[in-house]
Amino acid sequence: MFDAMQMEVLFDAARDASHRAYAPYSAFPVGAAILTSSGTIYSGCNVENAAYPVGTCAEAGAIAAMVAQGEQQIAGIAIYGARANPCMPCGACRQRISEFSNPTTVVITQGHDGSLQQHPIAELLPHAFGPRQLASTL
Ligand code: THU
Repeated sequence: MFDAMQMEVLFDAARDASHRAYAPYSAFPVGAAILTSSGTIYSGCNVENAAYPVGTCAEAGAIAAMVAQGEQQIAGIAIYGARANPCMPCGACRQRISEFSNPTTVVITQGHDGSLQQHPIAELLPHAFGPRQLASTL
């Protein structure tokens, strides 16, 4: 679990990334920031497209930045949406986060009252589909 200070630092990075979101169609900017097991922070924002389904979520951008730098272990990921409290990850992003998670990985969001909350990813995506299922069919 993260302490209050760690949550604040990561959430601030997510908020900062949201300011660079490209969301002209939804007007719903989102930022995400990942803290990896090595202590590095990677952030991302949503990037929409005139061809709507081509747009990408903030979490996907942060994960791509992490993987491109050779890291694959999410210790925690904070998500900030200027227009939603809390801004919870969509279903597809829960699956994306799950791929690079371990039993202690947490998702940090801001609650209705403004306080930061952490949820284990397994709570947000119980009985997740993962590499184990693939292995069992081989
Ligand atoms: N969005 C994210 O970036 N992450 C989520 O987990 C939920 C939704 C973005 C996608 C779209 O650009 C906008 O928020 C409105 O759905």
